[in-house]
Amino acid sequence: MDIIFLGAQARRGSLYLRLKELNSARETKSGSCEGKESYRCNERTGKSEETVGRENNIQLNWSKTESSLGHFAVASKNYDQGRLDDKVRFWIEEVAQKAQLSPESRILDVGCGTGSFTIDFTKDISREVVGVDPSRGMLAQAKSKPDSSRVEWIVAVAEYLPLADGRFDCIFMSQVLHHITGKEAAVKESLRVLDRDGKIVIRTFSHEQLRQKPVFRFFPEALSSQLRGYTDIPELEAILTHHGYRSVHHYSYRSENYMLPSQYIEAAEKRWWSMLGLLSDEDRQRGIARLREYIRKNGDTKIRNDDVFTMVIGKK
Ligand SMILES: C[S@@+](CC[C@H](N)C(=O)[O-])C[C@H]1O[C@@H](n2cnc3c(N)ncnc32)[C@H](O)[C@@H]1O
Repeated sequence: MDIIFLGAQARRGSLYLRLKELNSARETKSGSCEGKESYRCNERTGKSEETVGRENNIQLNWSKTESSLGHFAVASKNYDQGRLDDKVRFWIEEVAQKAQLSPESRILDVGCGTGSFTIDFTKDISREVVGVDPSRGMLAQAKSKPDSSRVEWIVAVAEYLPLADGRFDCIFMSQVLHHITGKEAAVKESLRVLDRDGKIVIRTFSHEQLRQKPVFRFFPEALSSQLRGYTDIPELEAILTHHGYRSVHHYSYRSENYMLPSQYIEAAEKRWWSMLGLLSDEDRQRGIARLREYIRKNGDTKIRNDDVFTMVIGKK
């Protein structure tokens, strides 16, 4: 395995001051979401997510959520093609080891997308796996895969999980948090559905890792929006700690990887990655033009494009 372990760092006790105390009163009786767009209706309460949000003093930016979902509706068919290097088994085993999972563990994959990780958790790692995602297109891809019937798939957002308190031993979130507009609500929901001593495992990029990505040499307009969307690691750890997660720490990873400039062009044209898919057409075309100019001068030769990730882990 060519992943290099860069080190772990524990952070404790810092207070996340921007947070408002939210009213956590909830309805427990189940409601009806019939005739309502499911991801905007909490299947536990039957209320629209706006109503639940208003009652709990949570402001969600639905237009941002919907523009992200619009992207995934289009991108879902090609989504896996843009991630052939994802080294799924490595990550599954890494999560199992770091979160000390046993074959009895119950796992929730929030923002599971096309289920690449979700389905793999059912292989020797867990007895119960649930995948949640608001994008029907992404879930349709997940459900079409072999062994998908081992997973329970649910249309929902991280901010309002239609799931019972204390049902899971581990929550996995891979490359999702930057799409979630109600991050603090999502963290509170994660704590609610985790059992005692349950773990949250967040696979994400640090700001430093984002800045290192060569793709932004060609698409500099995408970098600022990614830096706005991704919560940097110290802030993310502070949010988790503030809400009650204990022993919050992170691990950084890097593995050598290369990409052809023409593959970046394909990724941009087919909108494989939301970082390029959510760019304006003008900015995307400008980036493609820069790549064509680069190829004209240097040839279509591989550019070093290391896989870099950070995994943040907290214990309830
Ligand atoms: C980049 S994909 C990651 C998919 C998968 N976890 C993976 O690593 O392959 C981001 C996913 O987050 C989902 N998403 C967007 N907003 C969300 C929200 N508020 N709650 C949960 N998931 C959300 C999208 O529909 C999409 O499937």
